[in-house]
Amino acid sequence: MKNFSIKEIFYNKIKIEKEIKIYGWIRSKRDSKSGISFIDIFDGSCSNTLQVIAKSNLKNYKNEIIKLTSGCSVYVIGILIYSRRKEQKYELLLKKLKVFGIVNNPEKYPISLKKHTFEYLRKFAHLRPRTKLFSSISRIRNSLLNGINSFLKKEKFLWVPTPIITRINTEGSGSMFNVSPYDFYQKSKFLNKRKKIFEDSFLTVSGQLTLETYASALSKVYTFGPVFRAEDSNTKRHLSEFWMLEIEAYFFDLENIILLSKNILKYVSEYILKRSFYDIEFLEKNFNKNIIINLNNLIELNFVELEYKDIIVLLNKLGKKISFGEDISLEKEKYIVNKYFRKPLIIKNFPKELKAFYMRNNLDNITVSSMDIFLPNIGEVIGGSQREERLNVLDNKFKEFNLNKKQYWWYRDLRKYGTSFHSGFGIGFERLLCYIIGLENIRDASPFPKTLNKFNY
Ligand code: 4AD
Ligand code: MG
Repeated sequence: MKNFSIKEIFYNKIKIEKEIKIYGWIRSKRDSKSGISFIDIFDGSCSNTLQVIAKSNLKNYKNEIIKLTSGCSVYVIGILIYSRRKEQKYELLLKKLKVFGIVNNPEKYPISLKKHTFEYLRKFAHLRPRTKLFSSISRIRNSLLNGINSFLKKEKFLWVPTPIITRINTEGSGSMFNVSPYDFYQKSKFLNKRKKIFEDSFLTVSGQLTLETYASALSKVYTFGPVFRAEDSNTKRHLSEFWMLEIEAYFFDLENIILLSKNILKYVSEYILKRSFYDIEFLEKNFNKNIIINLNNLIELNFVELEYKDIIVLLNKLGKKISFGEDISLEKEKYIVNKYFRKPLIIKNFPKELKAFYMRNNLDNITVSSMDIFLPNIGEVIGGSQREERLNVLDNKFKEFNLNKKQYWWYRDLRKYGTSFHSGFGIGFERLLCYIIGLENIRDASPFPKTLNKFNY
């Protein structure tokens, strides 16, 4: 007999009156006085549960079925029928139920049926995907990844895996994790040399610079992987380990990548609305009534686009004192994005001192060709720029940023041999997921969140 998923039932892939087998876990069980149990089963394939009707004449009814509690793993065989209840289209008339694992001490099961706070569930990150909310988040996360891949395939970007252990600091800030050598190196006869190499190695903060090397040969490339930041910012938006999609395109200027980044946001939102409709519907009903509005905001490209200098003028007009050259504080950013515009906002052309060395100097020699995209409630989701392709200007930037240009010899090579204008950006995957679902805390968008304070996994 073929196994089916609950999703296949609700997406009408199975004929009615057919005998089917489903593997899953028990969400809840209700026993009627007339000797029938109603068991709701989930299997992670969709937000729906399947109601199974178990009658007392089943062989293991009295010694097993009646004792089942939330969380037990089972398989069920039965006949699929239309349900008489309004809330549920189908149900299963049970013929056989096999128990794999019971829940020991059901009263102590951390993921009981009652509603739990996000904070509580964070303590049980290994069990929280069993809740309806986190299983929905997991499926939408997967849908977001598929949407991104589908977009990149359509736009003909090529995948390049970039290093995770690296010797360069792309963003130039002091927020890298050191990679320490193992005992193996201690015992090696090349001890000193090898040890030294790894002492100077770090977990990457971004794959951008190495990605630029492949862009300079393949034109349009991307990398998607974990990046690591040892920032001591214990906020609702920062993780020490997060996933970033980075895109790099030769012969693209700033306006080209702004358009590309808007298009990817639009594309993935449409993709999720279409492909994850049941989860979106579930989340809209039970968690965030604005979820479809927020997705539509990205689809309709309702973006405000301003230069940094205009934001400074605007902030001052609104009574928020700030001078040109100052970074926009979190408090001011929240005010302008969440309260004032209440829409996605793109800020372009920041002063060069506020941005990384690789960004292209504008003609004014004061600002760089940068862009950041901010989304309501979660803040900066995309950061990108046109890259400095002129060797003499880049060399000056190394000086200004106190960087040793010798270490970037291969990066400089790209400017020596067939350089051209090019641009790219990075999307914080968990931040985008926060926006899409309406999560307030990034720790709920990452399956195993890590911050400098604490992590268990
Ligand atoms: O703005 P960032 O630092 O840009 C770069 O790393 C560039 N090299 C990207 C590129 O042009 N290829 O980071 C990109 C995005 C941010 O906009 C934000 O969404 C996310 O990564 N991000 C974080 N997400 C979670 N936790 C953190 N600590 C993050 N820091 C940045
Ligand atoms: Mg940034």
